[in-house]
Amino acid sequence: MIRLPTEIVRELEPRYRDRRVCVTGGAGFIGGHLVDALVRLGASVTVIDDLSNADLEHLSGLIELEPARVRFVHGSVLEPEAVEHAIGPASVVFHLGAVCSVPRSIENPTRSWEVNATGTIRVLEAARHAGVKRVIFSASSSAYGNATTLPVTEAMLPSPLSPYAASKVAGERLMQAYAESYGMSTVSLRYFNIFGPRQRSGSPYSGVIPKFVEAAMRGEPLTLNGGGDQSRDFTYVGNAVLANLLAGASTAPLAGRVLNIGTGTRTTVRELAERVLAAFGRPASDAVEAPERMGEVKHSLADIDAAREAIGYRVVSDFDEGLGLTLDWWRGGAAAASGARERGEA
Ligand SMILES: NC(=O)c1ccc[n+]([C@@H]2O[C@H](COP(=O)([O-])OP(=O)(O)OC[C@H]3O[C@@H](n4cnc5c(N)ncnc54)[C@H](O)[C@@H]3O)[C@@H](O)[C@H]2O)c1
Repeated sequence: MIRLPTEIVRELEPRYRDRRVCVTGGAGFIGGHLVDALVRLGASVTVIDDLSNADLEHLSGLIELEPARVRFVHGSVLEPEAVEHAIGPASVVFHLGAVCSVPRSIENPTRSWEVNATGTIRVLEAARHAGVKRVIFSASSSAYGNATTLPVTEAMLPSPLSPYAASKVAGERLMQAYAESYGMSTVSLRYFNIFGPRQRSGSPYSGVIPKFVEAAMRGEPLTLNGGGDQSRDFTYVGNAVLANLLAGASTAPLAGRVLNIGTGTRTTVRELAERVLAAFGRPASDAVEAPERMGEVKHSLADIDAAREAIGYRVVSDFDEGLGLTLDWWRGGAAAASGARERGEA
């Protein structure tokens, strides 16, 4: 579970206590952490998720603890009735439900477009009809493509390199269009490589950090696609959760704004691999180079001044702290799993 500093909890509690909110994709990695935080702040949360990239394990635990304040709708953001049912009387919708991977979008661009673009208009339509006060969209730094100057600012033109990035830019444009056409308060948060506990591993579409940690734990080599010189603004999930909470609580109009959510620092993929290898007592030579993956950007680094000014965003956990917390979580999970193995459990 991520921890927010006490002064932030004090600031946000009055804004969320007894408020009804909806989280699409709330069974997923970032969504699950957001739901935890919302419940802790006193909100009543409805999650809609089709469980295509999640299971109910985490959410079921939360429902058991807080049955009156967590509701789950098993459905797709493409199904208008399910979305209407999930939004109900919510005042804020956090829209995270999406097909979230660049390689998956290259394999099946139509599905990415349907879920990420058409799914977003379904959410906006339901929110419009329900009179929702604010819609917060999980956008992506992939919108910048291979930017020639760093850090990237929201004033730069989008240049999507993959169907995933294009579908996410479409989502942002829809947020802007609904603000212009219907006066809705919408905002897009462009996340920069979010990582943390509970991020999925074990699939070719997983994020680089869970992939590296899992390989390091198994004693396998870590694969540096594209050589490892690429750099990323790796952002701990607590920061993305805070950005959502601040955007949902803000009294600013936020009419279609796009805001970068990162840390303003970057790390190369090779450096990341070496840090992960060292954490498991393995040599840097266990990181091996492999061909570049299609659609991947070379470098990314966020300018976070606009988010700071618009919603009071700040970095609550930097890369070092976030990586430490993530590795602790993996070690805890690994210890629990090996304990279970020793006890002869599956
Ligand atoms: N993780 C990152 O680094 C990152 C970076 C930029 C943007 N984002 C965005 O943040 C959001 C959350 O990402 P995440 O990393 O938690 O990924 P995730 O895959 O863990 O979460 C997405 C959730 O959406 C659900 N989902 C997929 N299709 C759906 C559908 N048709 N209807 C309802 N639910 C559906 C999945 O089952 C999953 O629970 C996504 O919108 C993603 O595009 C993530």
